[in-house]
Amino acid sequence: MRIVTLAGSPRFPSRSSALLEYVREKLSAVNVEVCHWHLQNFAPEDLLYARVDSPALLALNEQLAGAEGLIVATPVYKAAYSGALKTLLDLLPERALEGKVVLPLATGGTIAHMLAVDYALKPVLSALRAQEILHGVFADDTQVTDYEHRPRFTPGLQSRLDNALDTFWQALHRRDSHVPVFGAPAGVVQV
Ligand SMILES: Cc1cc2nc3c(=O)[nH]c(=O)nc-3n(C[C@H](O)[C@H](O)[C@H](O)COP(=O)(O)O)c2cc1C
Repeated sequence: MRIVTLAGSPRFPSRSSALLEYVREKLSAVNVEVCHWHLQNFAPEDLLYARVDSPALLALNEQLAGAEGLIVATPVYKAAYSGALKTLLDLLPERALEGKVVLPLATGGTIAHMLAVDYALKPVLSALRAQEILHGVFADDTQVTDYEHRPRFTPGLQSRLDNALDTFWQALHRRDSHVPVFGAPAGVVQV
């Protein structure tokens, strides 16, 4: 099984990337193929000038096409997700997330903006035809410490990340095991 992870902060190291690193390690431990991407993989001018044929973008598209799921992390910027992440999402093919399970992660300075993923990022993931967009995890900055060296999370955040991963895992397997049989009567599924 292949999963793509995408770090949407213009900064590195970063708090939201630390969340992603945590889930990546957990997935790799259960032998999932994790293809990791971050904004620094792309030349800024390719994103700004919408060069849809840039080699990095073509490589991401290819890996996404063969992936079952996507985990995307972003900081909250101005009550939404990062603009740099938007420059990348804008260049993905129209159906880039078709059939995929998506888990969004976000960090922000204030819990006043904890719904930014719901009202700003999820509509974009939906426009890219994601099959299932999970509830996601928001952490405020006090819950992620020492992110520049050895990131540490509060126990509450760690447990929310573990639960989200568990839900992600179940959604991926639901997706695999309940494939409707083409042309069969309603309710018949292939297991
Ligand atoms: C340009 C900028 C704008 C920000 N705007 C917000 C905001 O509107 N709401 C919020 O809760 N935090 C805001 N923050 C704080 C970041 O979301 C927060 O520090 C986040 O954890 C940074 O994630 P990163 O380290 O992955 O980049 C902003 C930070 C920056 C640099």
